[in-house]
Amino acid sequence: MNSLVLCVTLLLISYDGLQSRQNFLTSSSSILNKSESPIWKKCDRRRTDFNQCLSKTIHKTLRLLDKPLKLYGLPSLYDVTFPPDAVIEFGNTTDGLRQKYHNYRIIGLTKPRSIRARLDSGVATNTLTIETTYSKLVWKCECEANGTLVLLPLNVRTPLEFTFDNPTFIFAFELEEYEKAAATYFRVIESAFDARARDIRFDFKHLFSNTWLNDEFNSELSAKGSQMYALVKHYEAIFAPYFGSVFNSFLEKVPVVELFDG
Ligand SMILES: *[C@@H]1O[C@H](CO)[C@@H](O)[C@H](O)[C@H]1NC(C)=O
Ligand SMILES: *[C@@H]1O[C@H](CO)[C@@H](O)[C@H](O)[C@H]1NC(C)=O
Repeated sequence: MNSLVLCVTLLLISYDGLQSRQNFLTSSSSILNKSESPIWKKCDRRRTDFNQCLSKTIHKTLRLLDKPLKLYGLPSLYDVTFPPDAVIEFGNTTDGLRQKYHNYRIIGLTKPRSIRARLDSGVATNTLTIETTYSKLVWKCECEANGTLVLLPLNVRTPLEFTFDNPTFIFAFELEEYEKAAATYFRVIESAFDARARDIRFDFKHLFSNTWLNDEFNSELSAKGSQMYALVKHYEAIFAPYFGSVFNSFLEKVPVVELFDG
């Protein structure tokens, strides 16, 4: 999820021809100028409206990530497949239910309703915070469960889909500066991800072979969706490194001077 933030930040791409001619980098040596349409609008850190400018830029760039931007090392963020080490596992087979949730995908990350970005300068690092809202976001994964549910034996493998209604996702990247080939670059040294939603709907495709029971179970779970989510919320951290690494692959190509003025 943090990848999204990175991507967003990086992809300050504008298709707005006039604006881009005025605002985008014009130096032919600039990496940001090598693609047919420039992908990043520089905002001026000295201006009081810097964060608004940054928010707009990130929003535009995120939308462009419907498709990968290979020149910048950026994958498409429309349909994100998390690496196999994004796994959540808990429970006890002997005495309960051992559960494993893996093969995560998130669909629609490039279609935010709004974005609010902020760059805060600290003593040694900068923190980029990107708050995105969506009308709906769908996550998919596989669930394996072995053991007993109350006393009922259960040994299954099922797809699970969960839908966040009107969620807010907050990505935070701590950025450190370093020098490379006489230029200053940023790198992400810490990523955080926080998902907030009032309603979360769960859909286990076939946790039970009895479809009536399966449907009723899903609707009971979804009725208490945000309560259920609170129980597993601390696992969100496993998604942050992916976003951090996506952002980093952009940052290592683009020096700070090409990201911001001031
Ligand atoms: C499962 O629970 C039992 C009983 O509480 C405990 O003895 C055992 O160590 C647990 N196993 C695992 C893998 O946590
Ligand atoms: C559940 O059991 C199957 C079959 O024994 C096994 O392959 C799988 O790894 C188990 N999964 C978990 C989460 O215990």
